[in-house]
Formats: sequence, C-alpha cells, structure tokens
Amino acid sequence: MTLAQASFRYPGAGRLALSLVLVHLWHRQETAVDWDAGGAEQLPTRAEQQDVLLALLAAAEVGDGAVLDLGIGSGLAAERVLEALPDAQLVGVDFSAAMLDLARGRLSRFGKAWLFARS
Ligand SMILES: C[S@@+](CC[C@H](N)C(=O)[O-])C[C@H]1O[C@@H](n2cnc3c(N)ncnc32)[C@H](O)[C@@H]1O
Repeated sequence: MTLAQASFRYPGAGRLALSLVLVHLWHRQETAVDWDAGGAEQLPTRAEQQDVLLALLAAAEVGDGAVLDLGIGSGLAAERVLEALPDAQLVGVDFSAAMLDLARGRLSRFGKAWLFARS
C-alpha cells in the first residue's frame, strides 16, 4: 500500500505520523542545539511573542508566585520570565532530555527559582 492509498484509507493517519516524527525530533540532541541557536531565523516572531507573554505576566501580578512553563525547551522564554519576575518560581516541563539539559545550563544562574520535571 502506498502512502497516498494509506492516507485515503485511514484519514488522519498522515497527521498522526507527522506528530510521531515531531515527537521523535524534539528528543534529538541536534534538534535541541539547532533550536536553541536558531534565534530569529528559527522563529521570526520569538521576540514579539515573548513581549506579549511578559505583558500578560506583568498584568497577572505574579509576585512570588509560580509560573508553569509547559514545553520549556531550552529555556529561552523562561530566561526572560525569570529576568522580569525575579521573585517568582518557575517550573518547567519538557519531555526532551536534550532540551532540559540546555535549559538547566541557561537557568542555573537563577538558583532556587527553577525546577524541571519530565512529562
Ligand atoms: C518550540 S519548542 C520550545 C519552546 C520554548 N518554550 C522556548 O521558549 O523556546 C517546544 C518544546 O515543547 C516540548 N514538547 C512538545 N510536546 C511535548 C509534550 N507532549 N510533553 C512535553 N514536552 C513537549 C518539546 O520537547 C520542545 O522542547
């Protein structure tokens, strides 16, 4: 059976296959390093998205409360959050050990302000 025949016979199978590939890719060391180094090339709206996030967090008046970062990746957004909210706790969750390794390195300077768990 060809891929086209399979897609016709099992609608949604293509999307499922793509999801599985993406899950696999996030676990690769190379993907993590590329993502982390990619900057604006990887995600042109990164700075804009982070600005919106920080504005929302400022409005939420987090104070010494906690921020949960689901899919923390290498900690790029989390770093900006912790810089903007020095009293807040940050809990980051990610299923990629490679990403979490990068995030630990990036966020270690914040000391007690971060924790990670793998989902
Ligand atoms: C776009 S990247 C990282 C974005 C990150 N917040 C940043 O600031 O750059 C998405 C992350 O979500 C993680 N991820 C995707 N699906 C996940 C899931 N179901 N459970 C845990 N982590 C997941 C990936 O491993 C990846 O590190």
